[in-house]
Amino acid sequence: MSRTLYLSRLRRLISKEAAPFSEALRLREGWRPREVEIRLTWACNASCVMCGLDGFLDKTGHDYNKRLPVDRLLNVISEIAQLQCETILFSGGEVSLVKELPDILKHVNNLGIECHINTNGGKLTPDYCDTLLQSGLNGLMVSLDAAEPQLHDNIRRLPGLFETAVKGLSYLREKRPDKKEFYIIVNTVIMKNNFRQLPEIVKVAAEAGVGEINFAPLSIDNAWDDWATGETELKLNDDEEAELALDIFPEVMRAAKKHKINAMIPAQILPDGSIKTEKELFNSDFVNCAVAHYHCVINVNGDVLPCCYSSPTEFTMGNVSHNSFADVWNGKRFKEFRTNCFPAKYSMCVSCSQHRNENELIQRWYERLQKAVAVNKT
Ligand SMILES: C[S@@+](CC[C@H](N)C(=O)[O-])C[C@H]1O[C@@H](n2cnc3c(N)ncnc32)[C@H](O)[C@@H]1O
Ligand code: SF4
Ligand code: SF4
Repeated sequence: MSRTLYLSRLRRLISKEAAPFSEALRLREGWRPREVEIRLTWACNASCVMCGLDGFLDKTGHDYNKRLPVDRLLNVISEIAQLQCETILFSGGEVSLVKELPDILKHVNNLGIECHINTNGGKLTPDYCDTLLQSGLNGLMVSLDAAEPQLHDNIRRLPGLFETAVKGLSYLREKRPDKKEFYIIVNTVIMKNNFRQLPEIVKVAAEAGVGEINFAPLSIDNAWDDWATGETELKLNDDEEAELALDIFPEVMRAAKKHKINAMIPAQILPDGSIKTEKELFNSDFVNCAVAHYHCVINVNGDVLPCCYSSPTEFTMGNVSHNSFADVWNGKRFKEFRTNCFPAKYSMCVSCSQHRNENELIQRWYERLQKAVAVNKT
């Protein structure tokens, strides 16, 4: 879902549910799984140059990657609904290859939970878009890594992908039931081969009717991210990093303003217009992470992870094949993880900017709350 919208909803919810949330933070317990990501398959029709999927599958092995049976998955979703979940995001691999996806979406929708998908867009034909809309889909994020077909198809190693994905976006923009309630987002990974095209990608996305474009930093170091590609030649060198921060990002923001699309960049724009890069942010004071209090990821085999960066071999909180979701969510391992994230003690957290905006919001709110409690006591 749109990060801007996600933040404003979080802000509203925190003020509405200040007491239970602050109590959950204090006790390092789960507040509620308000946004859950479920990975439905590791299968994929593309083979992107920056994606570490194949390496990840080699590392984790066949047993780890067996799919949770669909009837159990549907029950797990009902269990999640009982804990006041608001949104479920289905991802992969490539979810559009899962033939049961429309039925799964209908189930989520019937439970009153919003459902979204992440897709490479390779299956977004008009027929498939209609099926998704009829199943109650509330929004989707489509990957777009270039402004022109050849480069995108080369990056994704899937001929024709750009055209299908961009046409699919336009079709969905026309057919979506309610503009305000159906989110179409583009995700672009920043790499050596595409970083000078970022402002052009903003234009392509805006012309296809997309409301928000997210520019994601390339995850490359598989020492801390099991998924990362390890392909160091895709990484920007220091001069290119400087060009990105000083020239490209400002151009991206100008293009976003011109084309009326919301652009999220992995950097902070300061009030004087200058830009603080990811590296500078990582070196600044580290923000505590509260994400594991209201979010988790369920992997293809039913393993529950506290966030999408945590290694499945190191940070599995439990498995929902034979345990209820509530048992895992409220379990000892999850509590220990939350304790070690607030304040953060894990090395992977040092270079993670995934939830930085939310964490800053929560930290400011929590500090204000603590001060108010201290004043009341005196
Ligand atoms: C893992 S994919 C799964 C969804 C779908 N297959 C797709 O490509 O959109 C989710 C997002 O991660 C991005 N991604 C892949 N490899 C990445 C990497 N090394 N660093 C950062 N993001 C990456 C993809 O471009 C995509 O937008
Ligand atoms: S990024 Fe998505 S489309 Fe590309 S190989 Fe990975 S899972 Fe498949
Ligand atoms: S900081 Fe990042 S890696 Fe660490 S728990 Fe939070 S989301 Fe996960």
